[in-house]
Amino acid sequence: MKNLVLPLGVLLALSFAAYHSDPVSSQRATAKATPTPTSDAIDRNTSTPYDGDLSIFENAQRDKDLQIDRVMDILKISGDKTVADIGAGSGWFTVRAAKRTTGKVFAVEINQEYIDHIKKRAAREKLANITTVLGKFDDPTLQKESVDAVLILKTYHEIEKPITFMKNLRGSLKKGALVGIIDKNGDGDDHVLDRDKVVAELTRAGFALKEEYDFVKDGMDYFLVFVAEGRTK
Ligand SMILES: C[S@@+](CC[C@H](N)C(=O)[O-])C[C@H]1O[C@@H](n2cnc3c(N)ncnc32)[C@H](O)[C@@H]1O
Repeated sequence: MKNLVLPLGVLLALSFAAYHSDPVSSQRATAKATPTPTSDAIDRNTSTPYDGDLSIFENAQRDKDLQIDRVMDILKISGDKTVADIGAGSGWFTVRAAKRTTGKVFAVEINQEYIDHIKKRAAREKLANITTVLGKFDDPTLQKESVDAVLILKTYHEIEKPITFMKNLRGSLKKGALVGIIDKNGDGDDHVLDRDKVVAELTRAGFALKEEYDFVKDGMDYFLVFVAEGRTK
């Protein structure tokens, strides 16, 4: 009997070891340990948000170089339209939009110092229709269906979670709202980002490219105009 018990013990120990070194079960364990990327993940670098001197956005030539009046015509900023300036910086575009419309202009920023700067600027320039909004990295935190036109000027490449951000922005758009993006072709991590990547990401976020222009900075920057899929007039 003793002779029979020993081999049985060895057999049990061997099968225990075999179970735990089974390649399929260890693969399962590995798969569980690796977090699955969310559907909003991107496989490119983003630029570190600018936090320097705001005077760089106030170049006297900028209106002319960007043809900002033409940009606002295309985005139909007039009358009582509600506008959002995403990544407002010094408020350079915010104040121009606020002089064009009697509606509200939301200056969305993640930088509290810039928000304070824009508040003071709006008071100084007596533009009561400007409202500052301290947004989040992945959400402009604008009210649902509240905005007619958006400009994301030299900022999209800095948005850390662009797909989630644009999905959240989408919810704040009124029917037929226009979303403009001005940026420059490049890699993403040096304050530039390829136009094709922007189009692909906005498509994932539920937008459709409506128009495209090359007059900004004589074609050095691209100007893309999007509408939210299924939210056109
Ligand atoms: C390069 S500056 C451009 C400023 C302004 N649009 C202009 O061209 O005059 C980009 C700005 O976007 C802001 N920013 C970056 N990520 C943001 C986000 N997720 N939401 C809102 N603002 C953001 C930064 O704080 C910075 O002020």
